[in-house]
Amino acid sequence: MSAATPAPVPVPAPVPVPVRSPLPSGLSGRTAVLIGGSSGIGLAAGVLLRSVGARVVLVGRDADRLEAAVSRVRGAGSEGGEDAVVGVRGDGGDERVLAEVFERVGEVDHVFVTAGGISGAGALTELTAEDVRTNVDSRLWAAFAVARAAAKRLPAGGSLTFSSGILVVRPIPGMAVPLSVVGAVETLTKALAVELAPSRLRVNAVRFGRIDTPLLRSLPGLDSDEAVAAAGSGAPLGRFGTAEEAAAAALFLMANNYVTGQVITVDGGETLA
Ligand SMILES: NC(=O)c1ccc[n+]([C@@H]2O[C@H](COP(=O)([O-])OP(=O)(O)OC[C@H]3O[C@@H](n4cnc5c(N)ncnc54)[C@H](OP(=O)(O)O)[C@@H]3O)[C@@H](O)[C@H]2O)c1
Repeated sequence: MSAATPAPVPVPAPVPVPVRSPLPSGLSGRTAVLIGGSSGIGLAAGVLLRSVGARVVLVGRDADRLEAAVSRVRGAGSEGGEDAVVGVRGDGGDERVLAEVFERVGEVDHVFVTAGGISGAGALTELTAEDVRTNVDSRLWAAFAVARAAAKRLPAGGSLTFSSGILVVRPIPGMAVPLSVVGAVETLTKALAVELAPSRLRVNAVRFGRIDTPLLRSLPGLDSDEAVAAAGSGAPLGRFGTAEEAAAAALFLMANNYVTGQVITVDGGETLA
């Protein structure tokens, strides 16, 4: 090194990800944003999070459904007043809505994305290019948008959790578009886990089997308790999963600071059958 070259400034080693209780009770006092939190698995996550003392922010598009969900989640916890549960109406894939969420709420520790339904189904050659693009935009772009917003704002130890489904590994005809998009979200999960680890952020996904939610009940022939029980009786454990069982996996991923880049399956063994 020449005399003119300044000595390198020592860069402190990055602080490791914090050590905290990995139990769901460790989420007490943390703030979780649930994108798609007004129904099904997202709503169940809101109820569970509130019951362990977390502050909950629900994002959904339909105003009535969102309002009902906010009251239901408020009923799951007693401390923190009205501010402990906030509803933000809007499309979770819209960067302006996401910016509003973070501005209104302040510090956010965890984000769980359950927005998305069953759209874009159909034989690939029967779909229009617009159908395909709409599906990519609504689910994959939304995942990018959420990740871009969260990565800039979450603190060390924060987490981002995406949703996937077991059809990604057991495809059926007519699902090429939605399944490839969800498969891309799983790949994004792993790629981002590596990219965001230096910021001590974690990124995971839950791959759901058939979970009894309004989405499942919107499928043909599954619109009553009897029909759901009959269809579920053929599953390895004799029924479909509950929204709470599915949501509990997301709480595990939020609370455990040593899990990242993982896609965990909650399917009652269906993938093995
Ligand atoms: N249930 C299952 O058997 C199953 C199986 C495999 C995978 N999954 C996946 O798990 C996730 C949750 O499913 P679920 O069964 O809980 O569905 P759900 O009951 O239909 O709930 C989905 C929620 O997402 C919201 N949402 C949808 N698009 C949105 C958007 N663009 N922006 C903001 N909110 C949006 C919906 O409210 P609004 O429409 O009012 O916005 C609703 O609150 C989905 O990604 C689904 O694909 C579910």
